[in-house]
Amino acid sequence: MSTLPAKVRIVEVGPRDGLQNEKGEVPTAVKLELIERLADAGLSAVEATAFVSPKWIPQMADHTEVLERIRRKPGVSYPVLTPNLKGFEAARAAGATEVAIFGAASEAFSKKNINCSIAESLERFRPVVDAAMAADIRVRGYISCVVGCPYQGDVKPQIVAEVARALYDMGCYEVSLGDTIGVGTPGKTQAMIEACAKHVPAGRLAGHYHDTYGQALANIYASMELGVATFDSSVSGLGGCPYAKGASGNVATEDVVYMLHGLGIETGIDLDKLVDTGVWISSILKREPGSKAGRAIAAKKAPSA
Ligand code: HMG
Ligand code: MG
Repeated sequence: MSTLPAKVRIVEVGPRDGLQNEKGEVPTAVKLELIERLADAGLSAVEATAFVSPKWIPQMADHTEVLERIRRKPGVSYPVLTPNLKGFEAARAAGATEVAIFGAASEAFSKKNINCSIAESLERFRPVVDAAMAADIRVRGYISCVVGCPYQGDVKPQIVAEVARALYDMGCYEVSLGDTIGVGTPGKTQAMIEACAKHVPAGRLAGHYHDTYGQALANIYASMELGVATFDSSVSGLGGCPYAKGASGNVATEDVVYMLHGLGIETGIDLDKLVDTGVWISSILKREPGSKAGRAIAAKKAPSA
């Protein structure tokens, strides 16, 4: 019988993965408040921004200001995306203590997202990891399209496993497995994780599941059955991916926390504060909160008419 982890670490990616996909401009002050509220709600990792080209992703153009101005809470990490040395150097100058490199298990997606092949991307990442290690900065590795690709269709677990091994061997402390378009179901997700776990310990893998087809919670449960205990999620389910048409946001952090607490799994997160944060950012973005648990809890708290 499988055992679930006693504790799960959640990496909140809303301020980056969520806001990178917003059509309208989100003021820097709102981003800062969002990051700080999430840390106050008990998230121990809040991905803050991305040091990518402002021509490609204008939503992250204020990366330096965001990273420099965060009121950092002790014990919380604020990773940022750095696709190449240029991004890394800018992130380091702005005070990054953790960065993330991001590759893909699909050639077509790699080309669209970072303008190079998978092999070229790994060559670009190597000097980033070396420079980060020399500066005592932790590096996380992402892989997109771990179950399916918007351009190529099905993706073989073996390819994901090879990229995971390359990132881990390069020095990434953790490899986050991105179901970018949310097509995975529990069986496919487990097959992919089993392939990766042959090269990277399950405790060093993370699940990053977009909820496009409503499968993300089931995929998280299925991943926990195989020993994965870190998951990325996005407050209020913000987001998508600019290079994956129709992809919806990451699974909502509120929904993940509700499920985990219901299973008796520790997260260190105050669900009430998290729900308030989801309601707040949704009102700023002028939409309903994208978390079902968030909406239900907020409705209970609202004074009755
Ligand atoms: P490129 O055009 O191939 O790079 O972009 P280049 O080296 O030829 O440089 C071209 C121009 O970009 C130059 O400027 C560089 O200075 C500039 P110009 O001379 O034309 O004025 N440049 C940069 N500017 C700022 N920061 C940088 C940087 N690098 C070059 N770091 C690059 C390559 C990767 C930069 C580009 O393709 C890019 O920025 N792509 C954006 C990728 C992105 O942010 N995607 C979304 C995040 S990934 C994601 O969401 C998936 C994930 O959530 C997991 C999942 O769900 O699957 C992580
Ligand atoms: Mg993503």
